[in-house]
Parts: sequence; structure tokens; C-alpha cells
Amino acid sequence: MRQELVIGKGDKPAIIHLDKLNRHGLIAGATGTGKTVTLKVIAEQLSKAGIPVFLADVKGDLASIAEPGELSGKIMERVTKLQPEDFEPRAYPVELLDIFGSNGVPVRTTISDMGPILLSRLLGLNETQEGIMNIAFKVADEKQLLLIDIKDLRAILNFVGDNATELRREYGNISKQSIGAILRGLLVIEEQGGDLFFGEPMFDIQDLLKTDAAGRGYVNILMANRLFMSPKLYSTFLLWFLSELYEQLPEVGDLEKPKLVFFFDEAHVLFQDVPDVLEEKIELIVRLIRSKGVGVYFVTQNPTDLPNAILSQLGNKIQHALRAFTPKEQRTVKAVAETFRQLDGEELDKKLMELKVGEALVSFLDPEGIPGYVQQVMIYPPESKMGILDPLVKEEKINRSLLYYKYSEEIDRESSYEQLQRLSEIKAIELEENEELAARDKEKAEQLKQHKKERQKEQTQQKWSSSSRDSTMDRFTKNLMSQVGREVGRVISRGILGILKK
Ligand SMILES: Nc1ncnc2c1ncn2[C@@H]1O[C@H](COP(=O)(O)OP(=O)(O)OP(=O)(O)O)[C@@H](O)[C@H]1O
Ligand SMILES: [Mg+2]
Repeated sequence: MRQELVIGKGDKPAIIHLDKLNRHGLIAGATGTGKTVTLKVIAEQLSKAGIPVFLADVKGDLASIAEPGELSGKIMERVTKLQPEDFEPRAYPVELLDIFGSNGVPVRTTISDMGPILLSRLLGLNETQEGIMNIAFKVADEKQLLLIDIKDLRAILNFVGDNATELRREYGNISKQSIGAILRGLLVIEEQGGDLFFGEPMFDIQDLLKTDAAGRGYVNILMANRLFMSPKLYSTFLLWFLSELYEQLPEVGDLEKPKLVFFFDEAHVLFQDVPDVLEEKIELIVRLIRSKGVGVYFVTQNPTDLPNAILSQLGNKIQHALRAFTPKEQRTVKAVAETFRQLDGEELDKKLMELKVGEALVSFLDPEGIPGYVQQVMIYPPESKMGILDPLVKEEKINRSLLYYKYSEEIDRESSYEQLQRLSEIKAIELEENEELAARDKEKAEQLKQHKKERQKEQTQQKWSSSSRDSTMDRFTKNLMSQVGREVGRVISRGILGILKK
């Protein structure tokens, strides 16, 4: 079995050790300098080494890893020059995933699972609004109530609003305006198609950790073309994937090779307008996920888009050419050059600007885990196709995917939306009753009430007694406990990014 990946050559081969892949990495460079092709070459080699990969295809030029490449003039030139071992045009095993469900296996999660922190990020909530979101989740979590889709979230938010006076005693101030703002935010997410992400069956992260019959790791590709049009949706969903991996995978320490390598393309959007608290949490997950056997690779044009606390955790670095037209850009180039371990007298900043397409300055961790001296290398050509995936091949991959059959059918089981709706029906009836009570004489109203209660009882098959003196609130929670509590069946606890722990 291989112990290393070789991704290119300079004076020496450019080697990444498999047991250092979980020390994370960076692929950076100006537009058109070769980042995507480099990512492809690494993904191919990981797959060959039996390591599954997760990546997001933002521009539609990664999924073509599922088709063999062509030995065109430019590719042949590189092959002749670099002589990569065992090179031949090859297709790699892929699983296409799509949050919108049209270009791959539908990926869904539940509102409960995503949790208040990521949802607040998704909706771009301010602190006050985030507070309300937390209250809504506290109410639901305490009742062990599963919120599945957006209509459930809307229902619980409305419930919190309607019962603000009672809830205020326990949870503090609840403003109707904030609830209104969150509800409007939900509309925007729905318009962007984000609602498709919430539902069941929920995507099981273990499905990413597959190898094919020949032992090659699957390349799991999130088709993110449309998703990336809303960068907040994109970054939140990738964060959900990352935290789901973190929360679900067991602690394993340093393995001979990682269980999965996760590529975060267009990584700069992850840290755009991110509150400090969230940034710290992301840093924490990146640091800790290492010992779960996951390597995280950030792909971005300008490394300074990433916070220092993240950059300092990236052990394996591939830096393609940078351009420097403005003084600010020149400072960036100098700063990037300084991050490499170098021999005296190397003019790295100059080199950085002169690199050709598909060339890079690289530094990988050596077997002892020490950053290697910077090397200038030419990256191998990919064995798979460059450009976009043939739509017919795409269809075929989707149709033949077992996962597609596992997840294609959405299930809409009863959840809080339906339960709360029933509650509001009952409330409406009660209100009606009160008006009628005032209008009619007492005896008649009493009969009517009796009659309606009975009808309601039939409709909902609830065991609520009409003589109960419980407040609506108490009855509501009792009802939820009896119905949903059984479904979850355990205390809900949440992880670093607020997602549900299993
Ligand atoms: N290792 C390589 N082997 C062969 N060709 C390459 C290689 N790297 C880059 N190229 C050529 O350069 C082109 C641009 O590379 P690529 O798409 O990877 O750039 P990029 O940095 O991802 O750009 P962007 O930021 O716009 O996404 C490729 O389409 C390909 O023709
Ligand atoms: Mg690219």
C-alpha cells in the first residue's frame, strides 16, 4: 500500500505523506493559475490510495473526474516532462450530491439537527434575533421535540411569539419584531431553494466514507453551482457537513491514512462577515477534527482571506502564482512568501509572481511532522477529464447510484407543524366559544361547548379532557411530550456548532 501521494515534480518529487494528510492544507493562487486542476490531481491520488474525498464543485469543472481524460498535446507534454508513475487516462468513482436534489443524491438534514447557531448564520440574524432562535430551540429541545422542516421552525417561532408572556418568565425578553424578522428571513431562504435541504430522510455522513470494489475511495461531489449563488447558503451547508463529520466520527488520533479528506473550495466566503464567536468555533472544529481522521483543505485565491488561527493550522501548502499590481497586493505576496520555510537568499515573492499555470511553490510536512523547505514544482496533469462533466454521464451516475434510491423519496412525517396547527385549531374553537358564550345564554353555550369539544376530540383523537384546568401552554407541552418525545426518545444535546449530537 502507498504511504504517500506524489502530486508533481521540481528538483525532487512533491510528496504528501498519507499520515500527515489530517494536518490540513491550503491550495491558493490567483484565478486561472491551476487550483482546480491541482485539487483534481490530489483527489485522484487520494482515491487511488483508498481515501474517500468530499468536495464542492462550484464552477462545474470538478465533476468531470468521473470521466477519463484525453492525451491531448498539453497533457502529453506534461506527461513526457514529468513522467508520473502509472499515468493513464482514467475515470474515478464518484457520488454526486445536490442539496436541490436535481443534479445528484438529495442531501437533507432536519432543522433540529442543524441547530440554532448555523441557522442564525444562514439567516444572517443579529444578536437579538439569534437570542430568539435560541429560545425556540430551547423550548423544542427541552420537550425533546424534533423540528424537521422550515414549516416546523415557523410553527415553533409563531408559538414562541404567541406565548411570549408565559415564556418570558423563563427565557427573558421575546420581541415580536425579532420573530417577524426571522420569519421574513425564512422566506428568503425558501426563495433560494434552501427549504429543500430540510426534511427527511436525513443524509447519513457515514455514506461519504465509501470505497469501490477495487478499493478506490469515492469522490463525493457536492454539485454547488446553484448553491454558490447564495454564498451564505453554500458556506453554512459546508459548515454543517464539517460539524456533522466532527460530531459523528469517533476519536481515533493519528491514523496511517485519513478516513476522509474534505476540500473547502472558495473558502473565503466562509469567513465573510462571520461573528468572532463563530469564527472561533470553526477554528476549534478544524483543530479537533484532525484526531477524527479528517483532513481539511482550504482552496482560495488569496490565503490572507483566511484568519491567522486557521492558516497556522494548515501543514500542507500549495501556492500557485499570485498577482501584485497594487501596493496592497504586493504586501500580500511578501506576507505569503514569509509563511514558507526557506533557505537564505531565496526571492520567494518574486518567484510567486513568476510561476506559470500549473506550477506552484509547495511545502509539506515531513515524516516527523516538520514543515519541509519550500519547493518549486510543476503539478502533474490529471488522469480524468478537464472541463465539464458530460450531462449523459451525469444522468448515468445518478441513476446508478444506490444512495440516490436511499434518499430520493422525501418522507413527511408528523412533526411540530402539524401538532401546532392542531393546537391553533383548538385555540380558534375556544375563542369562538368565548364569543358565543357572551352572546347566548349560558345553558345553550354549555351545550354547544360540549358538542364542539366532542367533535374536536374525534378529529384529533386526543385524550384531552374538556374539564381540565391546565393552561393551553401546559396542554401544548404535554401533548408534544407524549407525541414527539416518543419519537426522539432521549435528551437532546448539541455540539460545538450547535448541531444535534447523535
Ligand atoms: N496540472 C495541470 N496540468 C495540465 N493543465 C493544467 C494544470 N493546471 C492548470 N492547467 C490548465 O490551466 C487551466 C486553468 O486551471 P484551473 O481551472 O485549475 O485554474 P483555477 O486556479 O482553478 O482558476 P479559478 O480561480 O478561475 O477557478 C486549466 O483549464 C488547464 O488547461
Ligand atoms: Mg478553479
